[in-house]
Amino acid sequence: MPIFLDTGNLAEIERFHRMGIIRGVTTNPTILLKDGVTGGMRGIETTSKEIARLIAPYPLSVEVTTTDRAEVIRQAQTFAGWADNIVVKVTIHGPQGELENLEIVHELETRHDIRVNVTAMMSAQQCFLAALAGATYVSIFGGRVNNMGYNVCGELTKLRQVLDQFGLKSQIIVGSTREILNVIEWLEAGAHIVTVVPDLLKGMIVHPYSKETVQQFLRDAAKAEEMLRGPSA
Ligand code: E4P
Repeated sequence: MPIFLDTGNLAEIERFHRMGIIRGVTTNPTILLKDGVTGGMRGIETTSKEIARLIAPYPLSVEVTTTDRAEVIRQAQTFAGWADNIVVKVTIHGPQGELENLEIVHELETRHDIRVNVTAMMSAQQCFLAALAGATYVSIFGGRVNNMGYNVCGELTKLRQVLDQFGLKSQIIVGSTREILNVIEWLEAGAHIVTVVPDLLKGMIVHPYSKETVQQFLRDAAKAEEMLRGPSA
């Protein structure tokens, strides 16, 4: 299921879903804020329900907005109750490196039957541990990794190899796309899924030389039409 859309913009989701080229949607609090989702949890609920309904049965990832253990579990249950295709996003650890999130991920997946996307990861080793904890999806932020000065492709290849080697079922999502070439490059390196911002998806479709070619076809079609009509009196 190679391409997810990384946005909270309903019009963009609808447009690409109608084309049949996306297989899921990912969001996070930053994306929802950027896309104008306000009104706190009520706003997240309304938008998430609309997106989930629009793309069903494809998955929508919605991120928890708290670090409190009991509250994370409560939010996860609430989100999962909004629609069958909602996956709950939980960061790999807390803001100061607190360790309890993987325990929560394990509990959500094994005791509450909630699908989890472990997010904000920058290395194969983090993703490997999230996969061992039972995460349905493990999200590594390719653009941020590359911005730190090393190539995420190496991490993706190593990660895919160990997941396959140990029969771990987690799907690798690589996000934080920055360039059009990231998509094929990261899938080729081993990712199961690349989550792409709408502008990059547009950039993948539209090519300047294709534009020029289409314009040439239309110009020549018009000329041929004119020739068929013959000289005007
Ligand atoms: C993926 O799931 C993340 O939401 C996203 O791709 C993060 O991207 P950013 O680095 O552009 O914030």
